[in-house]
Amino acid sequence: MKSILITGGAGFIGSHVVRLFVTKYPDCRIVNLDKLTYAGNLENLRDVEQRPNYTFVRGDICDFETVVSLMRRHEVEGIIHLAAESHVDRSIRDPFTFARTNVLGTLTLLEAARRCWEERPEGYAGKLFYHISTDEVYGALELTRPEGVASPFTTTASSAEHHLAYGEEFFEETTRYAPHSPYSASKASSDHFVRAYHDTYGMPTLVTNCSNNYGPCQFPEKLIPLFINNIRHRRPLPVYGRGENVRDWLYVEDHARAIDRIFHHGRVAETYNIGGFNEWKNIDLIRLLVRTTDRLLGRREGEDLDLITFVEDRKGHDLRYAIDSRKLQRELGWEPSLQFEEGIERTVRWYLDNQAWMDRVTSGAYRTYYEEMYGSR
Ligand code: NAD
Ligand code: TYD
Repeated sequence: MKSILITGGAGFIGSHVVRLFVTKYPDCRIVNLDKLTYAGNLENLRDVEQRPNYTFVRGDICDFETVVSLMRRHEVEGIIHLAAESHVDRSIRDPFTFARTNVLGTLTLLEAARRCWEERPEGYAGKLFYHISTDEVYGALELTRPEGVASPFTTTASSAEHHLAYGEEFFEETTRYAPHSPYSASKASSDHFVRAYHDTYGMPTLVTNCSNNYGPCQFPEKLIPLFINNIRHRRPLPVYGRGENVRDWLYVEDHARAIDRIFHHGRVAETYNIGGFNEWKNIDLIRLLVRTTDRLLGRREGEDLDLITFVEDRKGHDLRYAIDSRKLQRELGWEPSLQFEEGIERTVRWYLDNQAWMDRVTSGAYRTYYEEMYGSR
């Protein structure tokens, strides 16, 4: 049985990737290595944890011996590396933790993979180290959309052309790295290490840089789940600055599908950008979120708009992210499947239908799930 190691599989995106791979590839062993930091929640994987091709290992990607021994035990042939510290605001308060996990953790994994794969008779043949990165490594773009051209653009292929017709700038795979936050600087550094392992040792590697994800099971420190929960409890919605910043949003299952496609069909040593051509100014997105949540809660649509509270801006707040993902479309035929309004509706509905999940996360009770499932260590 072929084994794939997925790191960070108990987190937001990782749990969707684990679910997709465990169910779609029953003849593949999926080994999920996760430290279970505050962001790791095994409840996200409750529906697949009993599958015979799934194994969970609690461990730190910075622990070389742990990684080597589990790679040898399962004869891992592919790695999809998602484990990371992922929240910009935390990176501003605690950059060292980001350097440790994102930079040293990635380097440890690379070195463990090199050790394990080079000792095999077939060497690197049939192996792949796939590193999941972010569009934030490219820095920030200007706001160049002409007045009167409202967000959103839609997520259809033709909208790419529509978008590009205005001469707006996008992050392309060749865009120079210019990270601004400790988070994006740590991710940029890890991307460089991955490419260095290809160029120096010949390790088959791939890097993808994706835009902001949204959907079920995201830790409620990030904008969308935090605000849905605050609207539900009628708490203030803290909008940084004037809410003028722009993000390009992608439904998390579309990201997971892209990862699957790239893992199996991507060209080794390439970089692919993943995004939805779906830019939203924060304040427009927040208004849509309030209206949708109000409606689904049976409140008058828009009655909670007065929860919007402008607060001090984030330090070094990047103005605009926007991904040009046409290379992925062209080479591998991937496209986002959901229109944003539909994705937001589905997302709000999920958080409202799963209030017990949210309450266990915000109360900290989710932390006990590991002991309940796997016993205390
Ligand atoms: P997340 O914070 O929800 O989950 C991170 C997971 O990694 C958690 O389960 C955590 O327990 C685990 N982890 C953290 N440190 C670890 C360590 N030292 N050893 C083992 N496991 C550890 O993150 P996410 O939003 O799911 O992001 C996953 C990846 O995708 C990250 O690499 C992130 O940079 C990248 N990414 C995220 C987004 C986004 O919008 N969320 C967009 C583009 C790229
Ligand atoms: P976030 O979800 O933290 O993702 P990222 O910083 O990686 O893009 O934030 C998305 C946008 O929302 C970003 O421009 C910051 C802004 N934001 C707020 O205005 N208020 C908040 O409370 C949060 C968490 C984010």
